[in-house]
Amino acid sequence: PYDWFKKMRKNAPVSFDPERNCWDVFCYEDVQMVLQNFRLFSSKRNGNVQTLLDMDPPTHRRYRNFVSQAFTPKTIQELEPRITAITHELLAPLLGKRKIDMVAEIAYPLPVIVISDMLGVPSHDRKMFKEWSDILVAGTQSASPNVMYKLFAKQEKAMLDLQTYFKRKISNRQINHANNIISTLMTAEVGGDSLSMDELLSFCFLLLVAGNETTTNLIANTMLTLFEQPDILNQLYRDHSLIPAAINEVLRYRSPFHGMNRFVTEDIQLKGMNLKKGQEVMAWIGSANRDESVFDKPDVFDINRSPNNYLSFGAGVHYCLGSQLAKLEAKICITEMLKAIPTMKLDTSKHLRLISSTFMYGYKELPVILGSE
Ligand code: HEM
Repeated sequence: PYDWFKKMRKNAPVSFDPERNCWDVFCYEDVQMVLQNFRLFSSKRNGNVQTLLDMDPPTHRRYRNFVSQAFTPKTIQELEPRITAITHELLAPLLGKRKIDMVAEIAYPLPVIVISDMLGVPSHDRKMFKEWSDILVAGTQSASPNVMYKLFAKQEKAMLDLQTYFKRKISNRQINHANNIISTLMTAEVGGDSLSMDELLSFCFLLLVAGNETTTNLIANTMLTLFEQPDILNQLYRDHSLIPAAINEVLRYRSPFHGMNRFVTEDIQLKGMNLKKGQEVMAWIGSANRDESVFDKPDVFDINRSPNNYLSFGAGVHYCLGSQLAKLEAKICITEMLKAIPTMKLDTSKHLRLISSTFMYGYKELPVILGSE
């Protein structure tokens, strides 16, 4: 997509697609403005579940104040030993193997297990939980109404099952005293106000759709970029303290998430174009991160880049709630892989396939050969 982004930044930085009734915005300053300016660009959507992502202030502010309590820097930092243990569990069975798929075997399961732990899901329910999570994030490129309908029906059922599961746990008080997101949010109070059961459940749902695939892509995109740049990979092998800087630059260079939408609230002009109230706007984060007017040599992967104000976690009031968690998971996962696997390389005999989503950016598999020839 990066060639297309470059062409659009140059020739049509704000352009309209009549088929989608949607404006596409490609330059850094415009993408940032669309994401930040909730008065002109609303997040209100007509999905069947309303989450934090679909709210504007002041409703958004009230809800976000609650859920932030479960994502403080301290809460996240305290997860480090647990994330390390899960990473070891995933790595152990792979070490004797010669070829692995880094997506299926590590990058995909890690965030799902971490979030199910954070939600207080016991390990015997993990498989079921993972199935729901898979269904909820599944996309389809098929335009056939029949295929779409079947997928939506399946997703609705998974959502209901998930809600019933958490509702039952909450009312049986199985979760109440445990130290996890649900118990924190059940008891959270802001100025005498508290979250309703429906609000709590929609947040659990949001965590699955917002946090899992994105983190999978961050881990896999980082490893792919390192395989392409063996000198940097070797540098990281020698000095693990450089790993967070590499992950940070991957966030810009291969953002796990490429585009976020908004809806125009009043007729306005942008770069000479007339945007009409009610139209959709797609803010192309993946393009903003390569904007040559903001980043020097944007197509070069440079772990020393500073400043590095990428927009991969969004901007403004919706700034990603899980950014610290995602970075911590990626740091631990990559550090532990480099410690456990002394040499590895990409299996270039296989053709890499991008995942079938326009907005998520990552690969279906990452075939890796462990050890030297
Ligand atoms: C919001 C990206 C990981 C939870 C966002 C937004 C972006 C984003 C771009 C803003 C959406 C908007 O402006 O409308 C990412 C990326 C991730 C990641 C690239 C991984 C590398 C996570 C994780 C969690 C999470 C691990 C939680 C477990 C959320 C939530 C919001 C959000 C709850 C909504 C915040 C709000 O509306 O106030 N994320 N995310 N994300 N993210 Fe993430």
